[in-house]
Amino acid sequence: MKSRLHAYIGTIRQLEILLAVFDGGSIKAAAESLHLTQPTISMQLKKLSDAIGMPIYDQAGKKQVFTEAGHALVATAREVLGSFNRLDMQLSDLRGLRAGKLSLAVVTTSKYFIPHLLGPFCKRYPGVDIRFEVGNRENIINRLEQGADDLYVFSHPPEDNDLEYLQFLPNPLIAIANENHPLGKQQCISLSELLEHTVLVREPGSGTRYAIEQHLKQHDLKLSENITIASNEAIIHSVMEDLGIAILSAHTLAFGGFPEIIQLKVETLPIETSWYVVWAKKRRLSVIASTFLQFIETEGKDGLLRKLGNQVTVN
Ligand code: PGA
Repeated sequence: MKSRLHAYIGTIRQLEILLAVFDGGSIKAAAESLHLTQPTISMQLKKLSDAIGMPIYDQAGKKQVFTEAGHALVATAREVLGSFNRLDMQLSDLRGLRAGKLSLAVVTTSKYFIPHLLGPFCKRYPGVDIRFEVGNRENIINRLEQGADDLYVFSHPPEDNDLEYLQFLPNPLIAIANENHPLGKQQCISLSELLEHTVLVREPGSGTRYAIEQHLKQHDLKLSENITIASNEAIIHSVMEDLGIAILSAHTLAFGGFPEIIQLKVETLPIETSWYVVWAKKRRLSVIASTFLQFIETEGKDGLLRKLGNQVTVN
C-alpha cells in the first residue's frame, strides 16, 4: 500500500503557514505575519488536514486548539523546515569551501606534524586559505577564550563543558639525552635518579612543562635542577651539546634525524598523552572546519601515523 506520508508533507509553504498559525496562536496573527488573507490560510490548513485525514485543530470560539495529530504535524514541520535551513547553510558553506578560510591555532609541539595534515588537505581543497597560528599552551588557551580561530590543537586542552574535543593521535613524552650521557647505558632509570641530572625544560605556560610537572607530582617528585628553555628546537640542540637531558614529545624529533640523541629508559616514561582538536560548542563550524575534522579522523590520521611511525628516529 502506498504510504500517505508524501501527502502529509504538503508543500513547504503549507508547513510554514501551519507553524505561523501554531506559533502566532491564531489564523489572524499568521495572516498578518505572512501577509496573506485569512481565507488563504484556512484553505491551506484544510488541504493539510485533508492530506492527513484528520483535523489539525478544533475551533474553540476564535481560537484554534491543536489536536494530537496537529501537534505531531507541527513537530514534523519543524524538523522538515529545520533540515531545509541546514541544507541552505550547507550549500552556502559549500560555495565557501571553494574559496573559504580555515583558521587554526596549535601548540608549538604539534607544529611538527600539523603541516603533514594540512598538505594533503589543501591538495584536496585547493581553494581553502589556511591561517595557522603557533604558540605555547597558554597562548593558545588565550586565543580559544577570545574565539579567535575555528579549531585549536592541544595535547593538554583546558577542561570545559563548553568545548568539544576530538582525540586523534597518541602523544608520548620521552626522556632524551646525548649519546654520551652517563644515564645512556642504564637499563632502568628511576624518575628520582633522572632528576639528579640537569633537566632542560620548557617555559611555564607550555603544555610540555605542565605534563612533566603533573607526572612528577603523581610520583611525589618535583623538578629540581633545571634549565628553562622556551623552545623545543633549542632544547633539542642543547641536548645535542650535552647541556642536559630533556623530556619532550617524541613528535618534536619526528622528521628530524638526530643521531647524537638517544632515548633514555626511564621506569615511568613515556608519559602517555594524546592530541586533541578542540572547538567551542557555541561556535557553528564552517563546512571547511567540519570537513577538516572529518579528514583528520579518517585519512589524515592514518597518513600521519604512517609518516610518524617512520620518522621518529630515537632508539
Ligand atoms: P606546548 O603544548 O607546545 O605548549 O608544550 C603542548 C600541549 O598542549 O601539551
